[in-house]
Amino acid sequence: MTTTRNPNAGVPAEHGEQRSVSDARITCGNLSRPPELTRYVDVTGMVDKQSGMIDRAVFTDQALYQQELARVFATSWLFLGHVEQVRKPGDFFTTYMGEDPVIVTMDKKKRIRCFLNSCRHRGARVLRADYGKTKNFTCTYHGWAYDLEGRLINAPNAEAYPDGELDPDQWGLVEVAQLDTALGLIFATWNPEAPTLDEQLGDMKWYMEAFLDRDSEGTTIVGGITKWVLKGNWKLAAEQFATDWYHVNMSHASALMVLSPTGKGPKDSIAATPGRQYSDDMGNGTGFPVHPKSRFDAQPVHEYYDYDALKERLGEARVHGPLTTGHATVFPNFSYLPVNGSVRVWHPKGPDEMEVWSWTVLDKSMPEEVRNAQRLYNLRTFGPSGIFEQDDGENWSEVQAISHGWRTNTVPLNYQMGLGSEREDGVHRGETSELYSDSAGRKFYHRWAELMSTPAWHEKQAAASGTTGTTEGN
Ligand code: FES
Ligand SMILES: [Fe+2]
Repeated sequence: MTTTRNPNAGVPAEHGEQRSVSDARITCGNLSRPPELTRYVDVTGMVDKQSGMIDRAVFTDQALYQQELARVFATSWLFLGHVEQVRKPGDFFTTYMGEDPVIVTMDKKKRIRCFLNSCRHRGARVLRADYGKTKNFTCTYHGWAYDLEGRLINAPNAEAYPDGELDPDQWGLVEVAQLDTALGLIFATWNPEAPTLDEQLGDMKWYMEAFLDRDSEGTTIVGGITKWVLKGNWKLAAEQFATDWYHVNMSHASALMVLSPTGKGPKDSIAATPGRQYSDDMGNGTGFPVHPKSRFDAQPVHEYYDYDALKERLGEARVHGPLTTGHATVFPNFSYLPVNGSVRVWHPKGPDEMEVWSWTVLDKSMPEEVRNAQRLYNLRTFGPSGIFEQDDGENWSEVQAISHGWRTNTVPLNYQMGLGSEREDGVHRGETSELYSDSAGRKFYHRWAELMSTPAWHEKQAAASGTTGTTEGN
């Protein structure tokens, strides 16, 4: 995979990939936030990769949640959307990075840009629409206006400010430190020191290609974005999509009956199907069965594909494995399901709640009736009322609902399945374990604890400038 550093900072490069790096220097004027307001807790004892045990407070503690925003979400590459959402200058959509609202847009030079959606004046949301097209961004509170490059271009009554104007270079929208695309997906990070997106994905990209690189024309999205709120910590969902095939036969038993040709669910031999689970030290994970009868496609989509051509493009191993029914998470909160065409992000909303944003992604070359079949199949299975989605949401909400109990909260959780089984299997990239394994879960939480226990880029920069926690970012 080759995402190259683009000298034209953000101009789409060959293969449609883009990389931009903005200057994320930190200055804070004369402000200095008291250190008591930014406490950090040592979590190294709460996650034990060796024994496969997790302290349940990682899902419930408010202070840990605040620390996650500052040390996990502020430092990691986060999924923003699909490149098809911003095709022309002025196209925009809004989303979140952690709990931070952001605007994603295309500027006049056709670079994808991402800005904090908070006015530099009194902090109002500059854009309140979900998506649209505009020439500039005008805040509806007092009227400060920013161009597509995030520069302040107008402030009503500016003559009342010292020297009769505001410095547009000082009061532009705060921009992400790095933005990049991979396989038609846009990611960004606030962290100027973050490893490249390619490094974050590593071998995981080989698995993602089985879903997102089936056709030279690339992918597109259909049906907009479906959004819903779930009770439950965001990690419960991200972790499950990284590591948990184990729940499928039990939690989804009724859904599997509906989908199986006999109406009785899959035979035991299929339920015990072999498969592999990939995991890596960056916290990414994916699992997939390799038994041909373990796949549950939308029939028109299944019939549409030329599997010989796919084998030529992706190789047998990927067509029999990661291209089929499976699950995946790119750390921290981006997940997908290849056979459903489902792509989603788990936005954190406090320790006890998440907002799910879900897309249907499919090959651009698919004819209309196949696209429609894939979209409906995704909604039927993993839309907010989907026959699988409801089972999963119920589990996460159930776990969260009881986790605040004092005794409950003190009992550690078990992630020991497949302990020590990771190896290079000679067929799939990187290290894999058995399909039924907690390997990716262990590495997901290990990566989480690693970031939680390491001072973030902004802490180091604030310390260097003698301040604590207030940053402008551009
Ligand atoms: S808050 Fe945006 S113009 Fe005042
Ligand atoms: Fe599930």
